[in-house]
Amino acid sequence: MKKRTCAIICHGGAGGISFPQRRANGLTKATSIGYGMLTQGRSSLDAVQRAIEILEDTSIFNAGTGSSLNLAGVAEMDAALMTSDMRFGGVGAITDVRNPIAVARFVMERTDHLLLCGDQALRFARLMNVPRYNPATKEKKRIWRRQKKARGNRYFKKVKNFVTHYGTVGAVAVDTRGLISIATSSGGITFRLPGRVGDTPLIGTGTYADRHGGVSATGHGEQIMRHMIAFRAVSLMQRLSARAAAQKTMSYAKRHQCACGLIGIDKRGAVVWAHNTKAMSWCFIKKGTLRLFKY
Ligand code: GLY
Repeated sequence: MKKRTCAIICHGGAGGISFPQRRANGLTKATSIGYGMLTQGRSSLDAVQRAIEILEDTSIFNAGTGSSLNLAGVAEMDAALMTSDMRFGGVGAITDVRNPIAVARFVMERTDHLLLCGDQALRFARLMNVPRYNPATKEKKRIWRRQKKARGNRYFKKVKNFVTHYGTVGAVAVDTRGLISIATSSGGITFRLPGRVGDTPLIGTGTYADRHGGVSATGHGEQIMRHMIAFRAVSLMQRLSARAAAQKTMSYAKRHQCACGLIGIDKRGAVVWAHNTKAMSWCFIKKGTLRLFKY
């Protein structure tokens, strides 16, 4: 079988870019390690999982350690993986684990299900011998206390400006066998209602792959869910170039007040990123060449 060119792209969320140097460092590390695995012949699934674990462990991103806290001050996290041969595993509103993406992989490979949520997702993680870990950082606790003072317990107040609250992480890779894999992980939106699950672990919304390509989306989860952003972009890849599919999806999203961004790879191995927010941090490597967002 002819070896395909491998590639990987990672993102650190769409919105504003605070601490760009720290984001650049985290993304460069995750993408480089993922790419190294691909060149050693490892699967794109292993590469995107490892890349996301690195981003989850980098506290500047809103995923894993450093996840934003919900109204009750708890980090409930979402994560999912999907492959172009339609394997999927996800967790929603999981607490007390270091790497939600690793639990999502267990859901994919050790169960007949696609998505586990809340306390039972945590219970499953314990059965898989995933140790207890509190992902809340001092910085996120400080932000939470400040917001709590300003907002009290107003659960249902709409957050006016989501832009600074985004920070989901995502990775898309294609390996030498042509398998495309996606992984997305998110700490959700600050001050959300407990139990809220965003777009990240729902097939077709924040995470989607099929034989035409794969996409990880980031941004305002509720709008991404309504408009099936990842599925929409991958479907367009069937008849359009990756770039045209991404741009068309972003124009559609903008028309529907869906502030978001995406990264993707199509079946020809074309790598793409696009966003309709002020900024998005990303990094990719293809044919040994690394490219990083400008800051
Ligand atoms: N896009 C991440 C979230 O809204 O949860």
